[in-house]
Amino acid sequence: MKIEGKTAVITGAASGIGKATAEDLASRGAAKIAMVDITDNIADVTAEMNKKVGREVGQAFQGDVTNGDFRKEVYDTMCGKDGVVNICVPSAGIFRDRLSVMLDKETGEPDIYPVEMFHQVLEVNLVHPVYWALELVARMAHNRKVNGKKKWHPDETIQGTIVFIGSVASQGNKGQISYSSTKAALEGAAQTLMKESMFHGVRTAVIHPGFVDTPILQGMPEGYLEKYVLPDIQLGRLIRPEELADAICFLISNSAVSGELWCDAGWHPPAGT
Ligand SMILES: NC(=O)c1ccc[n+]([C@@H]2O[C@H](COP(=O)([O-])OP(=O)(O)OC[C@H]3O[C@@H](n4cnc5c(N)ncnc54)[C@H](O)[C@@H]3O)[C@@H](O)[C@H]2O)c1
Repeated sequence: MKIEGKTAVITGAASGIGKATAEDLASRGAAKIAMVDITDNIADVTAEMNKKVGREVGQAFQGDVTNGDFRKEVYDTMCGKDGVVNICVPSAGIFRDRLSVMLDKETGEPDIYPVEMFHQVLEVNLVHPVYWALELVARMAHNRKVNGKKKWHPDETIQGTIVFIGSVASQGNKGQISYSSTKAALEGAAQTLMKESMFHGVRTAVIHPGFVDTPILQGMPEGYLEKYVLPDIQLGRLIRPEELADAICFLISNSAVSGELWCDAGWHPPAGT
C-alpha cells in the first residue's frame, strides 16, 4: 500500500518505536498522523515532528489506549465526516517482569505472579492493539457500505494496513510470563484479522523486534543488557528505533508480505533454566 496521502494512527507515539514510525511515515508523505500517547510530552513530540517535516501532519492525542471512549474520539477526529484511517500501528506497550512462581527462601511458600499485573499487561499489550485495529476495520467496513461497495476487489488496491508490534519474547522468555503471552497472542489475532478484514481490503502484519534502543529498556535490571543481551546480538549493538520504523514501513508498503517479520538482529531468547 502506498503510504503517500494516507491517514495513520500510531499509539505510543511519544517515544521509541512509535515515535520513529510516525516520523518515517511523515517523511514518506503520509497525509495525517494521529500521535497517541498517555504522556503530556506527546504535544511537544508532535510539534517537533511537524517542524522537522515542514507541515502540520501530526495531531497529538493524550490519553490511555485502554480507554474505549478515547479510542473512538481519536478515530472520529481522524476519519472526519466520511473518511477512513488507512494505517494503524498500535505501538504502546509495557512490561511487568518477574518469575511466574517464586519460593520464599526461608519458608518455601510459593508466590504466584500477581493476576492484577497480568491483566494490566494484557490490557495494554494485547487488548489495546486488537481493538485499535478493529476500530480501523470497522470504520473501513462502514465507509464501504455507505458508498455502496461490497467485497473488496484487488483492482481497488489495498485500503488499509495494520502492523502489530510483537517481540522476540513471543518465543517465551524467562521472567516475562505476561509480556511473552501477550506478544505471542498477537500472532493469532493478526492471522484471524487477516482472514476476516481482507473482505474490506485491510491487511495485517506482525513485526517481532529484538532489543531496540528505546526508553522501555530502562526498566531492565541493571547490567542485564550488557551481560545477557549484547554478547548475543549478532549486530553487536542494540537495534535503532529508525531501523524498526523502516521495517514497519516496508510491511505497510509491500502488500505481498503476510505473516511475521523478525527484526531481531540475531538475538533469540536462550533456553535457560
Ligand atoms: N524496545 C524494545 O526492545 C522492544 C522489543 C520488542 C518489542 N517492543 C515493543 O515495541 C512497542 C514500543 O516500545 P518502545 O520500545 O518504543 O517503548 P517506549 O517506552 O519507548 O514507548 C512506549 C510508549 O507507549 C506509551 N504508553 C504506555 N502505556 C500506554 C497507555 N496505556 N496509553 C497510552 N500510551 C501508553 C508510553 O508512554 C511510551 O511513550 C511496545 O509494544 C513494546 O512491547 C519493544
